[in-house]
Formats: sequence, C-alpha cells, structure tokens
Amino acid sequence: MRVMARRVPIAVLISGSGTNLQAIIDAIEAKSLDAEIRLVLSNRGDAYGLARAKRHGLRSETLDHRQFRTREEFDSRVVDLLGGAGVELVCLAGFMRLISPVFVKAYSNRIMNIHPALLPAFPGLHAQRQAVAYGVRFAGCTVHFVNEECDQGPIIIQAVVPSFPDDTEDSLAARILAQEHVIYPRAIQLYSEGRLRVDGRRVFVDGLRREPEQAVIQPALKE
Ligand code: GRF
Repeated sequence: MRVMARRVPIAVLISGSGTNLQAIIDAIEAKSLDAEIRLVLSNRGDAYGLARAKRHGLRSETLDHRQFRTREEFDSRVVDLLGGAGVELVCLAGFMRLISPVFVKAYSNRIMNIHPALLPAFPGLHAQRQAVAYGVRFAGCTVHFVNEECDQGPIIIQAVVPSFPDDTEDSLAARILAQEHVIYPRAIQLYSEGRLRVDGRRVFVDGLRREPEQAVIQPALKE
C-alpha cells in the first residue's frame, strides 16, 4: 500500500466546463493525488464547473471580475480569498483571465496553468485552432508555472498527441483534452511530493525515471 503523503491544499480557478477540475477531483478520490481542494473559484456564475464542485461537496465561490474597477483589484480579492482558505498551490484550469503581478508575486512559483498546446508554440487563445491551421504533425498540452508573461512560465510537464490532416479544431481539441486530464493531476502530485525545483526558466523534477530515448515520426511511413 502506498504511504499517504501530505495533502497539499489547493484552489482550482475556472471559467467554464471544468473537465480539468473534474480530473483533479477524480484523481484525489482515486487516491492517486495527495491534494485537498480548499476552494473552487470561478469568475463566471454560469460556469458548469461550479456544479461539479457542488456535487463533490467542495467549497466554491464566484467572483465576477466585472464588479471590479481594475485587474489588480480583482486579483487582490482573489489573493485574499485564497489566503483565507489556506491555499498553498493555485491551479488555473480554463480560467479565462490574465493574471496581474499582484497575484503572481503573492504565489510565486505556486500557480500552475494548463495550456492546450506544446508551448512555446501557439500561446494565447484558440491554441488548437492555431495548430490545425498551421498544419503541425504533433500537438499536445503543457502544464507550466505562471509568471508575468502569458503562457510563458517554466514548463512542468507536457503530453504530445498526433495531429492528422483531416483533424478539425474539435477533433484535435478532444484528443488533447484527454491528455490534459492525465498530466494536470500528475503535475500537482509532483508538487505535492516536493519534487519540483524551478531554476530560471527550467523546472527540474527529482527522481525522474529516464525512459529509453525514442523518436516518434508522423506521418509514419508505410512498410
Ligand atoms: C482546456 O483546454 C485548457 O487547456 C484551457 O481551457 C480548457 C479548459 O477546459 N486552458 P475545462 O474547463 O477544464 O473543461
């Protein structure tokens, strides 16, 4: 039996459907993730992720950014809520707000985000659409620490999926999303185990098992 590590207190910030939130909840319930969700925070009252939180008995709050005069005022309120809930690690999961320095400084190297592309390719909005339009052979997703530059923080973990010529934005997004649900809980677990060390742009992971090197070529050649 696996010895239970400490459970890192986290918040999950959402704006929409919250499938990544669900993956985190499921990993905690399956005991493969030693974390405790202290708060689910949405900037939109109609985010479906709020229903997911309720279903699992989690504390949730809605903080409408339109009620605040500036991004900094909104972020200060968020930081207060997180502090009050005893949150150590903040997980952005489809949270459609840019984060100001007020927030980044308060949680330096303690904010993670998931982005549906192999960063640094295709930062910003509609990453999957950008990947399809560009005609890449591989796409994927990235969990990274958040710094003051949008989608440019130190990379923790990535997953690669093939991108086929007949893919649509939706078909590629679905393939990527399935991997998001795998890597986000894994990144949080690495944090929880104290195995992540940030050095400048780079994140070093303690106790990494090095797989034999293997190249994947796409399209695969026919025999
Ligand atoms: C995901 O594609 C994530 O990478 C991006 O926003 C989407 C959120 O999906 N940042 P969900 O709300 O977790 O279902």
